[in-house]
Amino acid sequence: MEKTFVICKPDSVERGLVGEIIGRFERKGLTILASELRSLDRDVLARHYAEHAEKPFFGDLVAFMSRSPAMLLVVGGPEGTVGVVRTLMGATDPCQAAPGTIRGDFGLAVTENLVHGSDAIESAQREIEIFFPGLEIRA
Ligand code: RTP
Ligand code: MG
Repeated sequence: MEKTFVICKPDSVERGLVGEIIGRFERKGLTILASELRSLDRDVLARHYAEHAEKPFFGDLVAFMSRSPAMLLVVGGPEGTVGVVRTLMGATDPCQAAPGTIRGDFGLAVTENLVHGSDAIESAQREIEIFFPGLEIRA
């Protein structure tokens, strides 16, 4: 089973969209393998978003991601699941995201874009180890 790591970001929790987002993954046929509602601190976000540490938007991103709890998910499915989740999410900027995608249907702001999904199998493994270290999945 291919696994990916998803965050329903604080805006989606605040707006009551977690069920909608998880429902889309489930209706697609993917499986929720782990989940936890958790407040994320600056340290864990700096690890998770290390590739963006020098970007001008990094401060705003960390402030947003740490302002209220996020729903963390490990999602599994067949080969290609990492890409399937990215397709369901839509483009990074919700104003550019296609209708029918999560960001395209529910967002208007590039920072507060509702959802994170790993961008490669290696990223998924790295991120799952950050947020769910030692996770054992029997599925
Ligand atoms: P993510 O990592 O959250 O799944 O999003 P992504 O791959 O589509 O986009 P990425 O380039 O990795 O950016 C990470 C997150 O940073 C925020 N961002 N803000 N203000 C800006 O120009 C800007 N650009 C990116 C978004 O929350 C984006 O999802
Ligand atoms: Mg990314």
